[in-house]
Amino acid sequence: MFKVLLASTALAASTFITFPQAGTAKSLLDGHSKSLMDAPAIHVTFTVQRLPAAAIEYTIHFSKDKLARIESPSAIFVSDGSSIWEHDKSDNTFIQSDFEATKLKNRTLDSDVLVWAPFFTADAFKEARNITLGAKRSIRGIATQEVTFSLPSDKSITLYIDTKTGIARGGLVKTQSGEVLVIANEFEVAAEPAAAESFKFVPPAGATKLEKPKEKPVVWADVAPIFNARCTSCHGTSGGLTLTSREVALRSRSIVPGSPDRSLLISSIKWTGGPRMPQNGSKLSEEQIDLIEKWIAQGAN
Ligand code: HEC
Repeated sequence: MFKVLLASTALAASTFITFPQAGTAKSLLDGHSKSLMDAPAIHVTFTVQRLPAAAIEYTIHFSKDKLARIESPSAIFVSDGSSIWEHDKSDNTFIQSDFEATKLKNRTLDSDVLVWAPFFTADAFKEARNITLGAKRSIRGIATQEVTFSLPSDKSITLYIDTKTGIARGGLVKTQSGEVLVIANEFEVAAEPAAAESFKFVPPAGATKLEKPKEKPVVWADVAPIFNARCTSCHGTSGGLTLTSREVALRSRSIVPGSPDRSLLISSIKWTGGPRMPQNGSKLSEEQIDLIEKWIAQGAN
């Protein structure tokens, strides 16, 4: 069924070329982000479909500044602004950790809830490129306008923006690991932020609290596949930076074990200094950059 949807998108998109409306796609995207930034709270029930798997039901409750509850059939994520809980329903275990803004932000940047990420992360779509208008389509009875764009992290996103409220009712998020289709059944913007107490996590009967899982150290074997896929076509021969084995890689001065900030390799893949790498290629994903940064920070073992 979804294939049909995509085909009709392409057809309808071409009809727009006859009526170019400069800036409209960008202003719709900016309007979506701004409406979410300005919203005191949102409540959404929606379906998430990791294509070609079946759709599963989600709910989210977001409230300014840092209250969140994301519930799917398999997991619950809750932030009450001082703690964050992550409950795994499959084995009824949960982890409690101190609130960290980046943790909340990172959770909302996952593909399943990314459409509404600007609620907490004003610049979630700031680096959007190739912003274009697509078809007009009805999403569960709501008239929407498609806006498609790509992010430097190699994600391509189509939002279905409600033409009345200016906020997306869903979207299609494409990444290297697949496509996720998100469609709201109900979408509500609340007039007031919610009370923090309503965001306390109450462990279900019999739930086991786990101590914070120790993060697995990042080693060469974790980063080598990224270098092989994206770098060794040029950095594969001896002479200069060589990324085919840990031993030769560490001969380069662009890797300073323990100091990602002093490592040219890091600034080159973050595009913050030195040559932009991969040369003439798309930027690595945020997850890949994070992993390489951790590898160097932990000693490049
Ligand atoms: C298409 C070829 C190509 C690819 C792919 C590529 N690079 Fe490069 N890289 C170059 C060239 C050419 C230079 C030297 C030119 C320059 O400094 O601008 C360079 C320079 C660098 C430097 C500076 C090295 C030094 O000693 O001055 C770093 C660090 C680097 N690359 C990292 C990477 C990483 C990490 C990747 C993969 C994510 C990558 N590159 C992918 C071609 C490439």
